[in-house]
Amino acid sequence: MEEAGLAVEVDDAGNLIGRSGKDDGVWVGSHLDSVPNGGKFDGMLGVVGGIDAVARAGRGSVVAFRDEERGCAGSRARVASGRLPRRYVELHIEQGPVLLEADEPLAVVTGITGLARGEIVTSGRAGHAGTVPMAGRADALVAAAELILRVRDTAARIEGAVATVGRLEVEPGAPNVIPQRVVVSIDARAPDRVRFGELIAAIGFEPTYRVEPVAMAAVVRDTLRATIAARGLPVLELASGAGHDAGILAAAGVESGMLFVRSQNGGVSHHPDELTTDEDVALAVDVLAETLSRL
Ligand code: HGY
Ligand code: MN
Ligand code: MN
Repeated sequence: MEEAGLAVEVDDAGNLIGRSGKDDGVWVGSHLDSVPNGGKFDGMLGVVGGIDAVARAGRGSVVAFRDEERGCAGSRARVASGRLPRRYVELHIEQGPVLLEADEPLAVVTGITGLARGEIVTSGRAGHAGTVPMAGRADALVAAAELILRVRDTAARIEGAVATVGRLEVEPGAPNVIPQRVVVSIDARAPDRVRFGELIAAIGFEPTYRVEPVAMAAVVRDTLRATIAARGLPVLELASGAGHDAGILAAAGVESGMLFVRSQNGGVSHHPDELTTDEDVALAVDVLAETLSRL
């Protein structure tokens, strides 16, 4: 940010804001962090692309939020500080195959999915794996296996909903001891409030983290659409199945929007094979810089 001539603020949550000194009411940016064994583009593209866009536009500011992956702690802390922009535009990889299959580089995001995270604990009775008969066992991991299949079937029944168990903590965790307790992680998402509420109720868990589905602001969507159309490109629109800092700012009343850029390698993300081409990055940053100026 300093190399680009921006004045850098580091706030109490560790978020970085690089200011051009003009039109600070409009921010671009994304998050600095990644998932374990993640890729190089998720988050970082919007930060580095945002620095370039602000430097080239000579106006606006770019924010690098911290700790987005575990629950948007950085952007939520910024919302709590009350020191927010009037508008926010986040450039981000699509993290899916739609643009690749459509053979198009860009899409305007219409809204961001509702996202609920938490855990369900199953209980059993520990015992010796060799001496306890199968009949009458209380095996917490078998119960967890049945729960995981129920979570999958519940989400599959609700159009547009997804649910994932990504982590199991098995106690005591020895191969020759019948599990007595399993902590099952739940990540449940749906594109609108009705289906979101239905999914959470049907799975039957109390989310420890919950962000409602949120629409992107018309003024940002329209400006992105006009900027893309001015390049003679078709304007595709996509709902985001991933959570983003833009959703936190939108829920706090900041007029927010997102620009998706095509993901290669089948759209894989949260994985080292995450890839967007230089050509698509250059086009996306061009559109971001012009959108910033127009806003
Ligand atoms: O999990 C998500 O949707 C985002 O990558 N944090
Ligand atoms: Mn991510
Ligand atoms: Mn991300």
